[in-house]
Amino acid sequence: MKKAIYPGSFDPVTKGHWDMIVRSSKIVDELVVGVLNNSAKNPLFSVEERVSMLEEMTKDMPNVTVGSFDGLLVDYMEQIGATIIVRGLRAVTDYEYELQIAQSNHIANPKVDTIFLTSSLEYSYLSSTMVREFASYGGNISEFVPEQLVDKIYEKYNIKK
Ligand code: PNS
Repeated sequence: MKKAIYPGSFDPVTKGHWDMIVRSSKIVDELVVGVLNNSAKNPLFSVEERVSMLEEMTKDMPNVTVGSFDGLLVDYMEQIGATIIVRGLRAVTDYEYELQIAQSNHIANPKVDTIFLTSSLEYSYLSSTMVREFASYGGNISEFVPEQLVDKIYEKYNIKK
């Protein structure tokens, strides 16, 4: 049984994240989407909101569940019995950071390996940071995030569309 985690901040979930969830769920037996509860950051959506959005989006995917964690990813993986980390690579600029965390996690727990999926071409420019920036100025984000999240994101900036 190959149990994997797709970890991230998901603040907010983008179409790129969604693409990764759909594609990786077809490769592994079980996929946990792991939302980082990073209290040091000041997130747009609370961890509960992010988990509930992802649960709603994945409700018809039988091998996908959603969880949240704080602390080290490898510790959370030990708790839930996952050994594979799924991460997306958009451009060469992602590579250095991703290589570092993949190798650190493998050193921390040699049972843990990271698999990388290259992002689909149409989402290779996309990031949650860019979505927040566009939304904060009332820019059009409908190409960037799943349709059902558009209004929820504008609401956070008190923008009525
Ligand atoms: O979507 P993000 O913010 O790029 O995801 C980063 C994430 C959550 C994968 C990474 O920050 C993480 O695993 N954080 C948990 C703390 C940890 O395990 N740190 C050691 C590896 S960086």
